[in-house]
Amino acid sequence: MRRIVVGLAAVVFVIAASLSFIHSVGAQPPGGTPGGPPGTPPGGAPGGRPPGGMMSAPVDSFVAERDSLAKELMQKYAGKEGAPAESVFKNIKILKGITVENLLRRMNLGYGRSLGVRCQHCHVLGHWDEEDKPTKQIARDMMVLTGKINDELLPAIKNIKSEKPGVNCGTCHRGVARPGTGPMASQRGGPAPGGPR
Ligand code: HEC
Ligand code: HEC
Repeated sequence: MRRIVVGLAAVVFVIAASLSFIHSVGAQPPGGTPGGPPGTPPGGAPGGRPPGGMMSAPVDSFVAERDSLAKELMQKYAGKEGAPAESVFKNIKILKGITVENLLRRMNLGYGRSLGVRCQHCHVLGHWDEEDKPTKQIARDMMVLTGKINDELLPAIKNIKSEKPGVNCGTCHRGVARPGTGPMASQRGGPAPGGPR
């Protein structure tokens, strides 16, 4: 009897987990794959790193808000989840070829979670296709930077231990919007925090 109850609980948990975005958090490397080069296949991890590598990253406080905005948009585009992002959204310059669902997941987990920010860090709510904030273009430039590190710079380094070394947004950001600032900044030989850049 006890066994049946435990089994049932496990089944319920699995169903609940697969219905939820939380599932994706555990199932893919932190930061998702937004850092991948534009051609990275949906869901494919650049560099093929194993999942769950960064569960120690700080949990940000905007999870519920981002989840609900992402969910709202998923409902708005119900029936088109699998369509190419650029066929549904109006202003896609880099994330072409991935699905609508995948784009929204990257926004939430790849960007929001990796940087520990709200959607509003890069967008005015509802103006998703507009260029209201400079951080939106920075994020595009960061995708290019990440792609270049993964496609050109890392493969050119000899004797690296991983077979396919790779970075994504979370590798640097680790839950903060501005990596490189803070108490450790002066140790990298650069300007002290708040100093001239
Ligand atoms: C770190 C910055 C950043 C954050 C945070 C972010 N976005 Fe985005 N968003 C972008 C960028 C950059 C694009 C355009 C991608 C491109 O050009 O390929 C975009 C595009 C979009 C689009 C497509 C709009 C269109 O019609 O072109 C939607 C919808 C969207 N974001 C929703 C969200 C939601 C919802 C959240 C929070 C869960 C979010 N974004 C968080 C940077 C961000
Ligand atoms: C190699 C390390 C590295 C990677 C990888 C990286 N970033 Fe950054 N990012 C930085 C640094 C450093 C800054 C500058 C912070 C500052 O202003 O001092 C920054 C700044 C930003 C900013 C501006 C934040 C603000 O509030 O001013 C955004 C947005 C951003 N990154 C998004 C991304 C996204 C999205 C990805 C993945 C596609 C990414 N970054 C990958 C290192 C990185």
